[in-house]
Amino acid sequence: MTNITAIEVPDIGDFDTVEVIEILVKVGDAVKAEQSLITVESDKASMEIPTSIAGIVKAIAVKVGDKIKQGSVMLSIEPSAAALSAAALSAAAPAIASVAVTSSASNASAPAAPSVGVAPAASAVAALSAPVAAAVTPAAPPAGKLELPTSTVGLPHASPSVRKFARELGVDLGLVKGSGAKERIVQEDIQNFVKQALAGGVSASGFAQGASLGGGLDLLPWPKVDFTKFGETTAKPLSRIKKISGANLHRNWVMIPHVTNNDEANITELEAFRVTLNKENEKSGIKVTMLAFLIKAVVAALKKFPEFNASLDGENLVLKQYFHIGFAADTPNGLVVPVIRDADKKGILQLAAESSELAKKARDGKLAPAEMQGGCMSISSLGGIGGTHFTPIINAPELAILGVSKSYMKPVWDGKQFVPQLTLPLSLSYDHRVIDGASGARFNAYLGGLLADFRRIVL
Ligand code: COA
Repeated sequence: MTNITAIEVPDIGDFDTVEVIEILVKVGDAVKAEQSLITVESDKASMEIPTSIAGIVKAIAVKVGDKIKQGSVMLSIEPSAAALSAAALSAAAPAIASVAVTSSASNASAPAAPSVGVAPAASAVAALSAPVAAAVTPAAPPAGKLELPTSTVGLPHASPSVRKFARELGVDLGLVKGSGAKERIVQEDIQNFVKQALAGGVSASGFAQGASLGGGLDLLPWPKVDFTKFGETTAKPLSRIKKISGANLHRNWVMIPHVTNNDEANITELEAFRVTLNKENEKSGIKVTMLAFLIKAVVAALKKFPEFNASLDGENLVLKQYFHIGFAADTPNGLVVPVIRDADKKGILQLAAESSELAKKARDGKLAPAEMQGGCMSISSLGGIGGTHFTPIINAPELAILGVSKSYMKPVWDGKQFVPQLTLPLSLSYDHRVIDGASGARFNAYLGGLLADFRRIVL
């Protein structure tokens, strides 16, 4: 039977729970005593938690984003022979692990004093999927003086504070050469890297997504107002979906240079056709709304303008040969974007049925993650609600989104008289890094033409 040692979160000082922000090892890795296993972060500090024993990582029980506390099992290690004999010598000793704490407010280059915590006895690691029968033993005490870890597996050598500093500046540590002991990256290395980048010596890809080299936004801090001074208030936490979609929308709005092209489509005939279709199919229970036609038209426009059916990958465009179309769905908990797969292979009735089924699932909170992935372009239809035009935010890594407002009757001069025309407002937001204004206008005009005469869809 193999001795598997559960490595627990040691004493983490004043914090009840901390969030896992990095996992520095993987199953199968050979780790040395004192090597960092995970990085955790509280609102005040980030810390690397090292192992007190050397061995092979057998299972990892945490993932990025998990909230953990003292005594939580992080992972299990099969101790190396040397570690086992050391443990045998001190079998009576309690489990000890070390934590290197660096206050985020402190000077990032100065390592903070490490603290030593006594971990409680190891608990069973039944929850871990260790591939061998496990006789769980407590972790052995670390040998020698505790210091900030100097090495992490598969990651550049840097202390938590330096990692945090790099994260704040959006610097990819993998591209920074360390000048410290054992090529450890120190704060000065990052500063030099940024200076070089500002002087034009480093490509933007040396920076993590979101990093700014353009002088930064340099915004005022968010206003802190005590609203109760002005009247009664109640607090309502944002829903989970709002928190997630809000962060995505914010990133997309800030990082993508949006341009919105507004156009209109004459849908007089299409609407008449839609009404007839619904009458004919009354018994089927499938109600066709404008959305199904819009999906079909967007697919045809993507085929005509393939650069829209793409995503940016650094300096390359990834052109897609498939046509998965997302549509924004308004739910009681916030916005979600289900995706209709292979929309090019589906007819109007099937698209109508599928979109209404996905919209229902979205409203019931039953969409699976896979049903919201892989979209090529999205449609945000507010037509059932109102509005004339709006600026939809691109759903990255897509390059464009079509916003649709409420159709209205417009008098149009036909040379002799004004005739009523049912008009659909189309707002196409596109990523101007890839799509020129002329292409954006062409795409939207083409879309309008298809909706005005749907027979063109077969051309
Ligand atoms: N102009 C006028 N009427 C329209 C219209 C348009 N562009 N689009 C839809 N309608 C009508 C429909 O025909 C239907 O009419 P009816 O009840 O008389 O039959 C009514 O509005 C309601 O349609 P809806 O239920 O919204 O169906 P849909 O297929 O058009 O849209 C969703 C489905 C899921 C897209 C929609 O319900 C939704 O959630 N929209 C909000 C999207 C959103 O929040 N976007 C913002 C993102 S920032």
